[in-house]
Amino acid sequence: MTPDQQKQAAGAAAAALVEPGMTVGLGTGSTAAHFVRALAARGLAIRGVPTSEATAELAASLGIPLLDLDQAGLIDLTVDGADEIGPGLALIKGGGAALLREKLVWEASARCVVIADALKTPGDFGRFPLPIEVVAFGHATTAARIDAVLARLAGGARASLRLRDGRPVRTDGGNLIYDAPCGAIPDPAALAGALKALTGVVEHGLFLGLAERALIGTDDGVITFLP
Ligand code: A5P
Repeated sequence: MTPDQQKQAAGAAAAALVEPGMTVGLGTGSTAAHFVRALAARGLAIRGVPTSEATAELAASLGIPLLDLDQAGLIDLTVDGADEIGPGLALIKGGGAALLREKLVWEASARCVVIADALKTPGDFGRFPLPIEVVAFGHATTAARIDAVLARLAGGARASLRLRDGRPVRTDGGNLIYDAPCGAIPDPAALAGALKALTGVVEHGLFLGLAERALIGTDDGVITFLP
């Protein structure tokens, strides 16, 4: 199977978890898009809460009724992709720059399921740079403070401004993204807390203690991992 076929299988397995009447958080990215398509194909009476403008557009085009987070209240189940799946199903997210809305929706959810292809089988962190969303005003000053945190807690990684076509990437909320190649991250909770404490940092891509299971598409079928 190709990675995309594995993502599709994981998305379909997650869609099978959805029951009529649920409010469902809809993640962002190529894997989550497979979930949204599989969910729409089931034709259930559900309502979706999108985590990005891109996902809202996709879900609406497929006829899924949408709520925003404030209308939704408690979300029954959120399904989303991840960039890397670490120990205890700690996640790095934000490769698609949607980490803030994703985390808001995840934290409003009774259950969160992460879906991915076999290249993201849970293991140690180390490959994917940690995305950090930063307010544009004074962002270089904030980045210097981020680097000081990384020097203490992430082996001296340096955060760099994410660019696309030579221009800074803007999130749906109008903020900027810095990416920090942290490597193994000895203490993710300490790093998460220290980044969050910096004025100018809006959110970071560490999702800790949120995923109740991972559904990984493999050549041998979809495998479930628990924290
Ligand atoms: C979006 O900001 C991210 O958190 C995505 O969930 C993540 O990048 C996974 O995307 P893919 O499913 O496209 O790999």
